[in-house]
Amino acid sequence: MSASPLFEVRDLRVAFGRNGTYAEAVRGISLHVDPGEVLGIVGESGSGKSVGMLAALGLQPEGARVTGSVRFDGRELVGLPRRELRKLRGSRIAMIFQDPLSSLNPVMTVGEQIIEAVRLHNPDMSRHAAADRARDLLALVAIPQPDRRLAQYPHEFSGGMRQRVMIAMAVANDPDLLIADEPTTALDVTVQAQIMEVLAELQARLKLGLILITHDLGVLAGHADRVAVVYAGQVVEQAGVDDLFARPGHPYTRGLIASIPDMTVQNDRLFSIDGTPPALGQLPAGCAFHPRCIAAGEICRREAPSMREEGGHAAACHFAFAPSETIA
Ligand SMILES: Nc1ncnc2c1ncn2[C@@H]1O[C@H](COP(=O)(O)OP(=O)(O)O)[C@@H](O)[C@H]1O
Ligand SMILES: [Mg+2]
Repeated sequence: MSASPLFEVRDLRVAFGRNGTYAEAVRGISLHVDPGEVLGIVGESGSGKSVGMLAALGLQPEGARVTGSVRFDGRELVGLPRRELRKLRGSRIAMIFQDPLSSLNPVMTVGEQIIEAVRLHNPDMSRHAAADRARDLLALVAIPQPDRRLAQYPHEFSGGMRQRVMIAMAVANDPDLLIADEPTTALDVTVQAQIMEVLAELQARLKLGLILITHDLGVLAGHADRVAVVYAGQVVEQAGVDDLFARPGHPYTRGLIASIPDMTVQNDRLFSIDGTPPALGQLPAGCAFHPRCIAAGEICRREAPSMREEGGHAAACHFAFAPSETIA
């Protein structure tokens, strides 16, 4: 697409200190988002998706060590003073945090909170103009009766409606990049689909660069342009979304695809990948996925695979893109 990406993360590492040593939750993630592009980041719970993207915006937990490079519109964010980062967040970069419930203030009306978000980055805007903007924002995320809704408190909103409010607040200042962390996780399937529609429409209308973080690869089908698959703090596969589904190069990705619930069949025994991801600081030798991998060979126990690339599709597996069909 464009010559330079809107957002570019290179070799991002986030380590937590424990008993005098550091353990990396994010182990060298590199990815980029072009203007107007939708990047999906997918991986099981605990793989470092949230910690990684929060750290990329300077929101790492106290005491975490962050290294690598994060460029937004050509500007390096790692090491930027907190004030500068805060200015960027909520204006040009917006984030919808995992757990929208705790992100809204229960004792303020929704209208007051949106107005506050608008005025935070536009201190000269009148209250009246900000209130108009709040009404427009609710309409933008398809919340009916915006005037009545603005006067209500968060508890008067359903989970789906609350998530719409979070989306409205995130785009209040017309960002170029929106990072949405598990935007549909807490919602039931029908509402999930509605929220994805709202996000997709906004993304197209506002030409947002969008990072969609999810543990559910199914959410990304039809909604992402490209996908980065994360396992144990590393990107193990990256490809265009259709290519990823058509010929996944990593056994982990194949497992994630097999785990997507099929709505068209009655099936309550869903496939899931055997075992659990390694705990923080307890990585196995060789490929981090090998203890759970049905295709693992001897080399996988010994050597961590590097990324192999084929026509813009990359996978970190010793057997990726092997011509033989013998590999499961
Ligand atoms: N404040 C913290 N201190 C220590 N470890 C943390 C902290 N926050 C997250 N972690 C660990 O970092 C890893 C990645 O977590 P997270 O990014 O939340 O995963 P995901 O978003 O992919 O589900 C997990 O092992 C988690 O336990
Ligand atoms: Mg998370």
